Amino acid sequence: TPLDKIRNFSIIAHIDHGKSTLADRLIQVTGGLSEREMQAQVLDNMDIERERGITIKAQSVRLEWKGCTLNLMDTPGHVDFAYEVSRSLAACEGALLVVDAAQGVEAQTLANVYQSVEQNHEILPVINKIDLPAADPEKVKAEIEDIIGIDASGAVLTSAKTGIGIEETLDAIVDVIPPPKGDSDAPLKAMLVDSWYDPYLGVVILVRVKDGTLKKGQQIKFMQAGTTHLVDRVGCFRPKLTQLDQLGTGEIGFITAQIKEVAQTAVGDTITDAKRPTDKPLPGYQEVQPVVFCGLFPVDAADFDKLRESIHKLRLNDASFTFETESSAALGFGFRCGFLGLLHLEIIQERLTREYDLDLITTAPSVVYDIELTHEGGRIELHNPADMPDPNRIEEISEPWIKAMIYVPDEYLGPILKLCQDRRGIQKNLTYVSGRAQVTYELPLNEVVFDFYDRLKSISRGYASFDYEQVGYRPGDLVKMSILVNGEPVDALSMIVHRSQAEARGRHMCERLKDLIPRHLFKIPIQAAIGGKVIARETIAALRKDVTSKCYGGDITRKRKLLEKQKEGKKRMREYGNVSIPQEAFIAALKMG
Ligand code: GTP
Repeated sequence: TPLDKIRNFSIIAHIDHGKSTLADRLIQVTGGLSEREMQAQVLDNMDIERERGITIKAQSVRLEWKGCTLNLMDTPGHVDFAYEVSRSLAACEGALLVVDAAQGVEAQTLANVYQSVEQNHEILPVINKIDLPAADPEKVKAEIEDIIGIDASGAVLTSAKTGIGIEETLDAIVDVIPPPKGDSDAPLKAMLVDSWYDPYLGVVILVRVKDGTLKKGQQIKFMQAGTTHLVDRVGCFRPKLTQLDQLGTGEIGFITAQIKEVAQTAVGDTITDAKRPTDKPLPGYQEVQPVVFCGLFPVDAADFDKLRESIHKLRLNDASFTFETESSAALGFGFRCGFLGLLHLEIIQERLTREYDLDLITTAPSVVYDIELTHEGGRIELHNPADMPDPNRIEEISEPWIKAMIYVPDEYLGPILKLCQDRRGIQKNLTYVSGRAQVTYELPLNEVVFDFYDRLKSISRGYASFDYEQVGYRPGDLVKMSILVNGEPVDALSMIVHRSQAEARGRHMCERLKDLIPRHLFKIPIQAAIGGKVIARETIAALRKDVTSKCYGGDITRKRKLLEKQKEGKKRMREYGNVSIPQEAFIAALKMG
């Protein structure tokens, strides 16, 4: 295809503004799908995506419109996948900015638009859901101009639901979005945009060819990974998989090359010809690092092997989460896993529960701390509070910070500011546009992984939208808080907290456990402690009744039977210095919010 007949674009939108519905309509109108096939949202592949309405993996669809080839990239909409978003944007020359005609501009829209602007994209505003009674396209246009600062006079008005404005959108794409540039005679240079595991094809790689041609049978080299592979399939999605002989300059499509694991394919890598390589790889390759960690344990210890198998399988398709085995006195054997963010954690946890039918306990999520040891002991990365070195070995401990952008209707601003303040936030900016406030805060990530998002939503009745990016590590007065039951530390419940928050958190946890741990024949102290210093304490009163007292003087076999019965009941308990704690107590304690 000649370059001037190609248009590569992505769709950026806040969750629920209608990105997937619009994409489906574009596919339908250009003939890729029948009405019946429209029923199922085609761009979102996985069940979970559909149910939660989130697009996780970037995919691409090729459309034919009035003699032009349009490649539509579907980008993940959430910050956890920011790097994937930036790669898929880098594969395009423009973007449709979909804004709900009734809701207007929201925080995530902003974050994605700024990324798109950074890529020098041409942005075509699409005001969707104009069929809604509350739709106010003129107001939304003004918002786009005021808040985002782009011209909205050429905005297309659509209803993806009823099918209004779809052809106009296609025409506008051809008119507004520039064709790709590139040199078809130069050595092959292509970007690895995304990859996923397909049970029939093996690893499928989505590519954008920048220069040269990518052909079936070609020996290619991944410049970052340093590996070579033989291309055995080349093609595109229309949205059905279509095999082609080659992908030319400016085109987007897929290849397979008998690769077994997505871990071998790094998003952002440059693909070139092994025999005639380009001398300059594409800029901006970045390794994605997990930032949130938590332990995953099977509720039933017998499921450990099944959990291991399932985690290995999931990893085949998602190279961005990490895991290693972990053992905990309270929870038995499990895995410590690393994720790109909280949403990523939830998705993996849910897939394990649902697709692999596992009952899991998730420990409180924690971030990665950077610790400088005393006596030139070097630095360590702390992934698990249980591994915290002794305080006198720590010179300095640093934690990751984020810049959070919150967008909220005026009336909820007060409580939102208080929430940010309580979470050690530093206010950076506050502006008002058409009845809504946009606040920027810097916050420690560890305060955000701990129920921040839920609080934000409940305080604002769901109206606040939130997005964040990481801004690096900063030193902090952080301490490990241990929970002791009858004098014994319970590893699964220890956490790293800021000293100023320790007492409140400690008290909360002790109160909670007091209600959760059954009474025993003796008094049980529950303590929260930093080092040797107790900062909060509760006591579970002793139980009077003794099961054996009933059989006082009775026959010995009856007495033994009773004791046996009691023992059985204890099996699912964990022993802490003579205290039996039911598994459920840990689960409940960890679910605190
Ligand atoms: P994410 O995949 O979560 O980013 O959401 P999305 O932006 O892809 O939104 P999606 O297409 O899933 O649409 C969200 C909801 O809005 C769905 O219930 C759609 O049926 C509805 N919707 C989409 N377009 C329109 C429209 O033009 N009018 C109306 N009334 N509803 C629409």
